[in-house]
Amino acid sequence: MAKPTYIVMLGPPGAGKGTQAKVLAKKLNLTHVSSGDLFRENLNNKTELGRLAQSYMSKGELVPDDVTIAMVEERLSRTDCVGGAVLDGFPRTPAQAGALDAILNGLGGEVNIVPYISVPAKVLVDRLGGRWMSHSGRVYHALNNPPKVKWIDDVDGSPLYQREDDKPETVQRRIDVYLEQTSPLIEHYRSLGLLVEIDGTDDIESVTADILEAITGAAGL
Ligand code: AP5
Repeated sequence: MAKPTYIVMLGPPGAGKGTQAKVLAKKLNLTHVSSGDLFRENLNNKTELGRLAQSYMSKGELVPDDVTIAMVEERLSRTDCVGGAVLDGFPRTPAQAGALDAILNGLGGEVNIVPYISVPAKVLVDRLGGRWMSHSGRVYHALNNPPKVKWIDDVDGSPLYQREDDKPETVQRRIDVYLEQTSPLIEHYRSLGLLVEIDGTDDIESVTADILEAITGAAGL
């Protein structure tokens, strides 16, 4: 049986990791695994993990490594990830990166490639301030990627909402936390020869094309 493929999307909050991960997963026939979406699912289902996560997410802080790692490990062990996954929002600390290697090793795979979507802080604030979400996880932007009808999901017609943690003061904290705790992973994956840097300031389709070109060249996917 072919080895599973694992792609790790890296980049600051609002860089477009989720937007691109969904497209890549579809094109490459992999499963999209987003740690943020998993926490929000737990929140909606009012689980104990959801309540714990909310206390960190609302402040823009990271949820502790142990619970985050256990949650992602469980998700990656499900049958829909047997061919691999596009990981979005995980790992976010060096400890999570180490844990991911051990998890993937146990699943017969490894991190194959790490697209790092780079976007300046000013653009991130505008993107997150204009982001609208559907309850099924589709992501829109008021200017760059608007729904056909204002604040209504194109697919199921349900009302869109704005994320609690997209308020300007929380966005700034999320960017600071990213710089302090997550950005060291850029050098980590670069030193392993796995990083491909993508300019995330282009429009969504161009960024997708750049990622596809880079990962095909670099990892032979
Ligand atoms: P999470 O949900 O992962 O949030 P994030 O990493 O901050 O990333 P975002 O979802 O905000 O941004 P994105 O890069 O996916 O951008 P998007 O595609 O939506 O995490 C939330 C919280 O959960 C964390 O703060 C933490 O508390 C907790 N958490 C999650 N994972 C954790 C972990 N591993 N460890 C500990 N805690 C964890 O795009 C943004 C907007 O821009 C959209 O409106 C989109 O339409 C638009 N857009 C996208 N691309 C473009 C483009 N090229 N041009 C113009 N507009 C664009």
